[in-house]
Amino acid sequence: MTRRQLHLNAFLMNTGHHEASWRLPESDPYASVDLAHYVRLARIAERGTFDSLFLADGPQLWSSVGQRPAGALEPITLLTALATATEHIGLIATASTSYNSPYNLARKFATLDHISGGRAGWNIVTTAGAEAARNFGLDAEPAHAERYARAAEFLDVALKLWDSWEDDTIVADKAAGVWGDDAKIHPPRHRGRYFSVEGALNVPRSPQGYPLLVQAGSSEDGKRFAARYAEAVFTAQQTVEDARAFYTDLKSRTVAAGRDADHIKVLPGIVPVIGSTEAEARAHERVLEEHIVHTHGVNHLERLLHLDPGTLELDGPLPADLPPESAIEGAKSRYTLIVELARRERLTVRQLIGRLGGGRGHLTFAGTPEQVADTIQLWFESGAADGFNIMPALLPSGLEAFVDHVVPILRARGLLRTEYGSPRRTLRERYGLPRPANQHVIAPALV
Ligand SMILES: Cc1cc2nc3c(=O)[nH]c(=O)nc-3n(C[C@H](O)[C@H](O)[C@H](O)COP(=O)(O)O)c2cc1C
Repeated sequence: MTRRQLHLNAFLMNTGHHEASWRLPESDPYASVDLAHYVRLARIAERGTFDSLFLADGPQLWSSVGQRPAGALEPITLLTALATATEHIGLIATASTSYNSPYNLARKFATLDHISGGRAGWNIVTTAGAEAARNFGLDAEPAHAERYARAAEFLDVALKLWDSWEDDTIVADKAAGVWGDDAKIHPPRHRGRYFSVEGALNVPRSPQGYPLLVQAGSSEDGKRFAARYAEAVFTAQQTVEDARAFYTDLKSRTVAAGRDADHIKVLPGIVPVIGSTEAEARAHERVLEEHIVHTHGVNHLERLLHLDPGTLELDGPLPADLPPESAIEGAKSRYTLIVELARRERLTVRQLIGRLGGGRGHLTFAGTPEQVADTIQLWFESGAADGFNIMPALLPSGLEAFVDHVVPILRARGLLRTEYGSPRRTLRERYGLPRPANQHVIAPALV
């Protein structure tokens, strides 16, 4: 029997996941709009035989431009460019179900899947925050449950659209003058609570049928949604125990939803800060922390915790009377993770900002390549992860360090592929997932 292997996703973010990364001498402050920067990152990840790379997104300017790079290229467009600069790596774009319409988005992802030869993935998010809502004609953020209800209908419609062409619709019979078979086109004719979509997609069915479906919310609603639709899940977990509980819970929910537990891959995030010795890794971490602008960190934390400006004291603890998760309409699970982290480790606001500055609540780990590999292996082999979302603090050097120093150790331990091999695989095949059948082919309409 072949050994179970890790799935690795490179979470790319301009100069790195550390909020002060752009201030270091090696960083290019203009990286966020530089295609060459992203091509370089994608090729490094491909050298490390990663399964995929990933871009986050939201239809709003996430933070003030005062203290750190803000704003980014639109992910599907950027990934389309990266598709032509890479051969094997999967390309996962974030797109919101709250502020898109299914027809346009299904069309874009089908296009990316064609252009990349079956390497497209969609990180399905419901978009927390009132800022985005106000960019789309709403006065306030739709309630959390409402956003997830819309997401479920969005997915149902998108799936109908991607299935509106059967795989063998195109006949291409030049002699007979028959290009396609109209009987294999299935218009959705959808009339629902949020969407009405009549006609078939205007893109033929793509190599994967549809993009790999990825999800990244860990609230109750988020997990219910993931169990029903997601094939891969990104999650922020601080301890191996929490990660194990999340993993077990999600797998059992997936089985309860009538799916195979192995058909949903759970990828916690890790921010590795790598040094040739532990002291060197800690020194790297310190340099990054020293570049944090604390006034910015306080403002950001107050927003995340839904506190009035000026509430937090830099050298004090978090207030004791914070609201429960049920009162939060934004990003529920991240809120709880941050509050629990501060309380468990008795962090001051300044220390909490230092921890979040590295990875916004994802596990940060400073150590030697062996120690990083040991942590990954421990989580992977103890029922906490099917792989990892690698979130380098500094880019490109952090991704280079991971690929040059950690990847060889994982390969030597038999935990990671040594090459992509041929023939070329789709993103879904890389993740060991079956190609979805067309709903009209499994259950043909009664005639
Ligand atoms: C690795 C990772 C990446 C994420 N990327 C995005 C993103 O690009 N855009 C976004 O709106 N939310 C993103 N999220 C947030 C989730 O989609 C979700 O909004 C958040 O976790 C709160 O969801 P919940 O209320 O269901 O817990 C990401 C979460 C994780 C763990």
